[in-house]
Amino acid sequence: MTQPPDFDAAGYVRQAGRRTRMNQREFAAARAVSASTVSRTEAGRTPITLASDRSPLGKRQVAPRRAPGHRSVNTRSALGEHPVASQTSARLTSRTVYAIEMTEPGGPDVLRWTEVPDPRPAAGEVLLDVTATALNRADLQQRQGRYPPPPGASEILGLECSGTVRQLGAGVTGWRIGDEVCALLAGGGYAEQVVVPAGQLMPVPRGLDLYAAAALPEVACTVWSNVVMTAGLHEGDVLLVHGGGSGIGTHAIQVATALGATVAVTAGSAAKLERCRSLGADILIDYTQQDFVDEVRAATDGHGADVVLDNMGAKYLARNVDVLAPDGHLVVIGLQGGRTAELDLATLLSKRASVTATGLRGRPVTGESSKAAVVAAVVANVWPMVADGRVRPIVHTELPVTEAARAHTLLDSADVVGKIVLRVR
Ligand SMILES: NC(=O)c1ccc[n+]([C@@H]2O[C@H](COP(=O)([O-])OP(=O)(O)OC[C@H]3O[C@@H](n4cnc5c(N)ncnc54)[C@H](OP(=O)(O)O)[C@@H]3O)[C@@H](O)[C@H]2O)c1
Repeated sequence: MTQPPDFDAAGYVRQAGRRTRMNQREFAAARAVSASTVSRTEAGRTPITLASDRSPLGKRQVAPRRAPGHRSVNTRSALGEHPVASQTSARLTSRTVYAIEMTEPGGPDVLRWTEVPDPRPAAGEVLLDVTATALNRADLQQRQGRYPPPPGASEILGLECSGTVRQLGAGVTGWRIGDEVCALLAGGGYAEQVVVPAGQLMPVPRGLDLYAAAALPEVACTVWSNVVMTAGLHEGDVLLVHGGGSGIGTHAIQVATALGATVAVTAGSAAKLERCRSLGADILIDYTQQDFVDEVRAATDGHGADVVLDNMGAKYLARNVDVLAPDGHLVVIGLQGGRTAELDLATLLSKRASVTATGLRGRPVTGESSKAAVVAAVVANVWPMVADGRVRPIVHTELPVTEAARAHTLLDSADVVGKIVLRVR
C-alpha cells in the first residue's frame, strides 16, 4: 500500500529530521496520494486539507477555472494552457490556490501558472486574497537565479500586492476580514493568496482602486526609506534620481517634488525624459549623451546634488561621489552597473559626504529599521500625498498574471515607464 508522504500544508516534506520544500510536481503527487489514503493516515501526521474539505457548500466543486486577471467575458482556461496544472486538475477543486512558479532559473518562459501549496497565516500574519501584484526589477533577477528570497520568505515571485483580507492569524489586531489593503511582501505576490506579516499591510490610499494600489508598496517604501528616512531630503534640496523612468524613479520624482526639492533625473531616451518632466523633474539628463556630473553642476550653480538615489552601483560610484554637494548623501539601492568599485575617501572626506547602500526585502519584519517601521512611515507621510493627488501610481500597463512571462520580457525591453501591474482576479 502506498503511504502518504509526511508533508505539511505549506508544502514542506519532513525526512530524517530535515524540512525541505517540495517542488510543484512532488506536492501535487503527494496531495493525490494523501487524498486517496486519508482515512488510513497514521496518527501524528498532518494530511493536507483538500479544497473540497474547505468548500463552504460542504461538497466537491469541480467548476472549470478561468484564467485570472481578465475582466472581459472571454477568458481562457489556465488549466488548458498549462499542462502541469491540467495533470492535477481532475483530483482538485476550484478552491485550490494557483501561483506563478518557476520550473527552473532562466528566461521568462520558466514562469508557469500552476497549483501551489495554499498559504496559511501564522501568528501575527494575515492571509490575503490577492487582487493584483506588480513587477519589480528584482523579480527578473530572482527568475534568473541571481536574487534568492531571504530565509523564510516565499519562493514565489512578487514583492507587493493588493487584495482583500481573508483570514487573520493569532494575535492580529487592527484589521478585519474583508478589508481592502495593499502590502509590502518579501515574496509570494504572483499568487491567488499570500500571507503577509500584519505590520506590512497598508490601507488602500483614498481615491485608488485595488489595481492601482498594487503598484505602490515597493516604490513608496523604497523611496521614502532611502530618500527621506536615510538621506534626509528637505525642501530646497537637490535630488538626483538615476533611471528616472523606472518604477522607483517615477515615484521618487513625485515625492521629492511634493517635498519641495529640485529633481534631476537620468534616463536613456528623450521620450522617458519627457515623461519625467511631466511628473515634476526639473533637470533632464540623457545618460547616453550627457555627463550627469557636468549637467547637475551646471544646473545648480556648481552646488551639486544633496541626495543621489542610485540604481547603478559600481559603474556610477565615482561620478556619484563627484556630483554630491557638501554634506551630501549617496544612497545606492541597485547594482545594475556592478557591485565592486573603488571609492575615493578623500573626496568624501572633503565634502563631509556619506554613502549608504540599503535593501528593503531583507529588513527585519518588526523593530528598528524594519519593514513595519518603513510601512508605518509611508502610510503617515506618502499616503496623504496620494490621497490629494500630488503622487500617483504610474502604471505603464496591466496584464493578467498568467502573462507574467510577457510582462517580464516587457520590463526588460527599456520601453516601460513606471510599473507593470499583473491582475490576479
Ligand atoms: N534596494 C532596494 O531595496 C530596492 C528596492 C526596489 C528597487 N531597487 C532597485 O531600484 C532600481 C529600479 O527598480 P525598478 O523596479 O523601478 O526598475 P525598472 O522599472 O526595471 O527600471 C530600471 C531602470 O534602469 C534604468 N537604467 C538602465 N541603465 C541605466 C544607466 N546607465 N543609467 C541610469 N539608468 C539606467 C532604466 O532606464 P532607461 O530605460 O532610461 O535606460 C530603467 O528605467 C533597480 O536597480 C532595483 O534593483 C532597490
